[in-house]
Amino acid sequence: MNEAHRLIREARSVAANSYSPYSRFRVGAAVVAADGTEYTGCNVENAAYGSSICAEANAITTAAADGVRKIDTLAVVCLDGEGCTPCGNCRQLMREFGVDTVVLTDEHGEPVQFRLDELLPHSFGPESLPRS
Ligand code: THU
Repeated sequence: MNEAHRLIREARSVAANSYSPYSRFRVGAAVVAADGTEYTGCNVENAAYGSSICAEANAITTAAADGVRKIDTLAVVCLDGEGCTPCGNCRQLMREFGVDTVVLTDEHGEPVQFRLDELLPHSFGPESLPRS
């Protein structure tokens, strides 16, 4: 099993812990930090819908809380519906932490890889700001 398949399997596993009583749309994500450490996250909703947390943001912020500042790969899986791709906010968060490769799934649940710059072209990022 290659890394993409393994990450998709981990993302699918953590998606089972999704707290999504409002959308009933369960999502899981797995990230690989530059040092090879892996972190996972699921979406966590609340009654004020807009402040719900996406699975990708959960995985990335969990990694950040462990001191990670560079993430190489992020995989995301949705258990319900026709699959998904990351929202705009999550793409920007991936950009902040240097994600290179995003692994999604096709209609058969097989991994499909994209570069983040395909999903977020002409992006704004940390180096776009003047140094203080
Ligand atoms: N969601 C994610 O966690 N990641 C995605 O890539 C797409 C959407 C969540 C947010 C919300 O809890 C639910 O899925 C429906 O939008």
